[in-house]
Amino acid sequence: MDYFERTKIAKVLVEDSVSTNIELIILGWVRTIRVSKNVAFIEINDGSCLGNIQAVIGNPDDFPVLEKILTGAAVKVVGKLVESPAKGQKYELKVERLELIGPADQSYPLQKKRHSFEYLREMAHLRPRTNTFGAVNRIRSKISYAVHKYYQERGFYYLHTPIITASDAEGAGELFRVTTLDLNNLPRKENGIDYNEDFFGSEAFLTVSGQLEAEIGALALSDVYTFSPTFRAENSNTSRHASEFWMIEPEMAFCDNQENMDIAVDFLKFIFRYALEDCADEMAFFGKWIDKSLHQTLEHVINSEFERLPYAEAIKILEKAKEKFEFPVKWGVELQSEHERYLTEKVFKRPTIVYDYPKKIKAFYMRVNDDGKTVAAMDVLVPKIGEIIGGSQREERYDVLMDHMKEKNLNTDLYTWYFDLRKYGSAPHSGFGLGFERTLMYITGMSNIRDVLPFPRVPRWAKF
Ligand code: 4AD
Repeated sequence: MDYFERTKIAKVLVEDSVSTNIELIILGWVRTIRVSKNVAFIEINDGSCLGNIQAVIGNPDDFPVLEKILTGAAVKVVGKLVESPAKGQKYELKVERLELIGPADQSYPLQKKRHSFEYLREMAHLRPRTNTFGAVNRIRSKISYAVHKYYQERGFYYLHTPIITASDAEGAGELFRVTTLDLNNLPRKENGIDYNEDFFGSEAFLTVSGQLEAEIGALALSDVYTFSPTFRAENSNTSRHASEFWMIEPEMAFCDNQENMDIAVDFLKFIFRYALEDCADEMAFFGKWIDKSLHQTLEHVINSEFERLPYAEAIKILEKAKEKFEFPVKWGVELQSEHERYLTEKVFKRPTIVYDYPKKIKAFYMRVNDDGKTVAAMDVLVPKIGEIIGGSQREERYDVLMDHMKEKNLNTDLYTWYFDLRKYGSAPHSGFGLGFERTLMYITGMSNIRDVLPFPRVPRWAKF
């Protein structure tokens, strides 16, 4: 093929680094084609950027292949790049040779008209060829790069935590089971199923979080981060929950919860700044077609001092609120999305960090505060989405951890190695998890998590 010889369209339209009047090879897919007696126009996109290159044929009769080229076809075009006389585009390609590589017929589902996101979800195999999903995929890749850039430049090591695990990191029981046992013929023992017969010789699950292993990493390498898929079998059919999503989890030794918050704020601002400065092409698209206030929203976060307040104070504010909440509030309840959004959108009008939550409603690993009732948790809430980051200082004291886990009725025998970390050179440490898709929703303005994941997995949907 001409893999190395061809020019990517982004080089021409975004980088503007290609000279005119030299011969170029363009490989891509036809977005539209118009053929008349004296001229033919083919709009070609190769996914390298939003823009299409317009290929112009001044003598259509000499190109009989034109008859076979329809929207969706893969083509090779060879021609000279020239300044375009047409409005709205700088360059066009004067075609010298045209080849049909892979035809598409009239049943190609992405004809010119606009399709709803719901319709396109049924078509995860073709939707990356639309403007919106092309831009989503490109920005997803660029923001992933920004995540690595942030941590790598600050001396953090990227730790690959396991996907298959025997421990429930959140203790919330929302786990997908991994097994090779025959479900129709399960091996039994006295009080249930004999997992000794299973592939790993014990129960195994898909991980809900890489945190516990990240703690191992931090207590050896000082600063680590994970960036992996995580899985939750919670039956939440909302626009913000996916059953498989990516999480970024930094974990820092010798770091307390206030310092943890400082890192969370700095990291979020870095990512949003990266989106505005280094993904300008995609951001212009999202700002025009998805949410006109997008740039302003991100700039507001970048320029805001985040509000920080303890849970108890947040509850007092919510109790006094005139707003009618669906879920009533009092000290001890979990904050619902409506409460989180009220705090960040209506009360403080900027990103807000709530910390020191009641021990009862948070995970077993969080450090118990001196009051004995609360833990050093922290959630970062942002306008429009609510919780985007959840984190905490971890319990580094062996006995306190043991008591706390027993209180929560957890089987401490499954966590011996976790206790070892508290036995040998234990040190205060903290970390947090940023939901990658929620971040992308914030950056792009896309309102459903199913539209920022290339292949979403949600209850009753695992196609593709
Ligand atoms: O608050 P969560 O459950 O925290 C943890 O998993 C900790 N182990 C993190 C840590 O301290 N290392 O989840 C963290 C973030 C949430 O704030 C949210 O952004 C995202 O992960 N998240 C989800 N995103 C999409 N779909 C879901 N079902 C999500 N559940 C959590």
